[in-house]
Amino acid sequence: MAAPPALPWRVVWITGASTGIGAEIARQLAARGITVAVSARSADKLSALAQANPRLKPYPLDVTDAEAVIATFAAIERDCGVVDLVLAAAGTYAPVQLDALSPAPFRSMYETNYLGVVNVLSAVLPAFRARRSGHLAWIASVAGYRGLPKAAAYGPTKAALINLAESLKPELEADGVRVSVINPSFVRTPLTAQNDFPMPFLMDADEAARRSIAGLAAGRFEVAYPIRFVALLKFARLLPYRLYFALIRRNVLRR
Ligand SMILES: NC(=O)c1ccc[n+]([C@@H]2O[C@H](COP(=O)([O-])OP(=O)(O)OC[C@H]3O[C@@H](n4cnc5c(N)ncnc54)[C@H](OP(=O)(O)O)[C@@H]3O)[C@@H](O)[C@H]2O)c1
Repeated sequence: MAAPPALPWRVVWITGASTGIGAEIARQLAARGITVAVSARSADKLSALAQANPRLKPYPLDVTDAEAVIATFAAIERDCGVVDLVLAAAGTYAPVQLDALSPAPFRSMYETNYLGVVNVLSAVLPAFRARRSGHLAWIASVAGYRGLPKAAAYGPTKAALINLAESLKPELEADGVRVSVINPSFVRTPLTAQNDFPMPFLMDADEAARRSIAGLAAGRFEVAYPIRFVALLKFARLLPYRLYFALIRRNVLRR
């Protein structure tokens, strides 16, 4: 079998790398000779990852702490050298329960999923723009394409991340900085393990990681998978509300 093509990065920083898609991307990149700084709150899980491959360097971090994000990026560049790719994958999900609706989960998902990425962006951008190089990517979701039942707190954070990427790409591209947004559908990880509903086109995390890496290495703006489900959801995005809500009632709520 032919060897996979060489990857365009020497040092990569991934947040949300202790489990799931982030951890799997980190493992696969390290296996291909790249130094990967891995961040998440669980220091024990990051150490366990690093024991499996010394190219994985643990930097425990809570992405909601903007000052800690700045300090962590500085420490990684000091220890590992210039970071070529930053992938902000840290995220959290909880379904919205209408019987017990409160602002707390909305605030917490917004702070981690959206402002966590903004914290990373703010820490990294001055260096990337000064060097006129670097690749910035974050994981949003197909749940950001349109409103979905149970996702009233999670979905808006992912829609915001897609919009953030669209807003920044043209100007940052002119500054020599690449921007990508990854929109997975359902992937088997601790985040989806709690779901009690059918997850169409459910994919394993190693396959999601392979597709993420291939898309980023090809320099694509949007990396979305699996393509058949993505195409369906993009089509649903074009439907007028009357038809969209009828589709959701019939296929998601099954009423
Ligand atoms: N699985 C899916 O079907 C799916 C689909 C679309 C998009 N996504 C997105 O993909 C990304 C990865 O999710 P996953 O499915 O791989 O879930 P996961 O296994 O639960 O991974 C989430 C990661 O984020 C970290 N994290 C959470 N809060 C954090 C914080 N405040 N600071 C730093 N790290 C934090 C977690 O580690 P600690 O708890 O140790 O901090 C963990 O490493 C998320 O952004 C998710 O929204 C997932």
